Amino acid sequence: MSKLEGIVSLCKRRGFIFQGSEVYGGMAGTWDFGPLGVILKRNIMNLWWKFWVLRREDILGVDAAILMNPRTWVASGHTETFSDPLVECKECHQRFRADKLADNLPEHPTEKDIAEINCPSCGKKNWSEIREFNMMFRTKVGAVDDEKATAYFRPETAQGIFTNYKNVVDAIYPTVPFGLAQQGKAFRNEISPRDFIFRDRECEQMEIEYFVKPETWEDEFEKLLTDCRKFLFEEIGLPKEMIHEEEVAAEDRAHYSKRTVDVNFDFPFGMDELMGLAYRTDFDLRNIERESGKSMEYRDKNTGETFVPHVIEPSFGVERLVLAVLTAFYDEEKGVLRLPEKLAPYKFCVSPLLKNKPDLVVKAREIYVTLREKYTYVAWDDSGNIGKRYKKQDEIGTPKCVVIDFQTLEDETVTVRDRDTAEQVRVEIKNL
Ligand code: GAP
Repeated sequence: MSKLEGIVSLCKRRGFIFQGSEVYGGMAGTWDFGPLGVILKRNIMNLWWKFWVLRREDILGVDAAILMNPRTWVASGHTETFSDPLVECKECHQRFRADKLADNLPEHPTEKDIAEINCPSCGKKNWSEIREFNMMFRTKVGAVDDEKATAYFRPETAQGIFTNYKNVVDAIYPTVPFGLAQQGKAFRNEISPRDFIFRDRECEQMEIEYFVKPETWEDEFEKLLTDCRKFLFEEIGLPKEMIHEEEVAAEDRAHYSKRTVDVNFDFPFGMDELMGLAYRTDFDLRNIERESGKSMEYRDKNTGETFVPHVIEPSFGVERLVLAVLTAFYDEEKGVLRLPEKLAPYKFCVSPLLKNKPDLVVKAREIYVTLREKYTYVAWDDSGNIGKRYKKQDEIGTPKCVVIDFQTLEDETVTVRDRDTAEQVRVEIKNL
C-alpha cells in the first residue's frame, strides 16, 4: 500500500474524510469531512484565524457571499482567462488537462507539443484539438432561466475581499498597510481532480489581501513571506525539510501577478503546491474601478496623499494543509498519528479499566466531564480491551490516554499513557 493509500484508508476507517456522496457511487472531486476530520480541519482553520487575524491589529476579517454579481468575474479576468487546456483522447474518450500529460509542458501546450504523448488511459496517441475550458461553475439565480440570470460559484475567496475593500475603508478607515482575511468555500470545475483531497472541485481557501503603499511592496512581501513560514513551521508544526519555496517564473505566474512564491510540500505523490504568496499589484482594484466606475483610491489621513493601494496575497488551501499534516504526522508503520497537541482532534481519551465495574465507570465519567469542560474535545472509550483502545487512540492522534483503575478509588491517581513514547505515569487527578 502506498503512503497515500494508507492515509486514505486511515481517513475512512477512523472517520476523518469520506468520498463525497459515497453512498451513490461518489462525486469526483468532492470530499466529506467526518467527525474526526471536521475537528482537525477546524483546528487548522482556527489556528490560521488566530495567527493572522486575532493576534494582529493590521488584519481584519470578512465573510462575503459565495454568489457574487457576475460582473465581478468579468472585472477580475476569470470569465476570460480562468481556464485550463482540455484535450480528449479520440480512442477512449477520456478527457485530460493537456498541460499535465507530461512533465515540462508549457501551461498552454499546442497540439504539436502533445502529439507524441501516449494517452494515460488507453496508451494510444490520437488526440483531439486542445480547447480552453473555463473552470467556473455556472448556475442560474432567480426564477427566470435566461442568460441574464447566469451567476458563478466563486472560484476564489479573494474577490469577495476586493469587492469589500471600499466598504471597509469607508466604515473603519484602517491605516495602510492593512489586510482583509477570509476563509470559505471556493469552486473549480477541475478537469482532473486528483490525489485524494489535493485537487478538488469544491475546496476551502483562507486568503488575505494585504493593501500596501505601491512603493513599499517589496518590503511588505518579504514580511508576509516570513509570516507564512512562521505559520507553517511554528503554528502548524510542519517539518522544515518537507517545505520548499519556489520563485515562480514570469511565464508561469497567474495573469495578475508580478511576483509569486509558491510554497511547495513533499506530498506522498511528490512535491506540489501547498500555498502561494502573490504580488497582485493594483490589478484587482483598478479592474473594479473600470467595471464599477467607482474610485478605489485611499486617502492618507496624515499626509493627504491619495493612491490606489497595491496588494500582496497569501493564499492557503485548507484541504492541502490537512493533507500535508496527515502526510507529515502519520507514522503508518507504527499506526500512530503523531499530531501536535493543538491539532489533535481529541486532547485526551478517558476510560475505565473495566467496563463492567460500576465504581470505575462512575469515577471515569466524573473525570471525563471535568476534562471536557476544560478542553471540549475529550474522547470517552470503554470498548474492547485497554490495548485496543490505545491502538485506536494512537491512530486518531490522541496525545494522552487517562485510565481509571482500582487504585484510583483508593488514592485519587490515574494512569496517563503518552501516545508517542507509550510511557505510563501515575498522576493525581487534581493535576491532570
Ligand atoms: N486567490 C488566488 C488563488 O486562488 P490559487 O493558486 O489558484 O490562487 C490558492 O489557489 C490556493 O488554494 C492553492 O495554493 C491551494 O492551496 C488552494 N487550491 C486551489 N485550487 C484548489 C483545488 N482545486 N483543490 C484544493 N485546493 C486548491
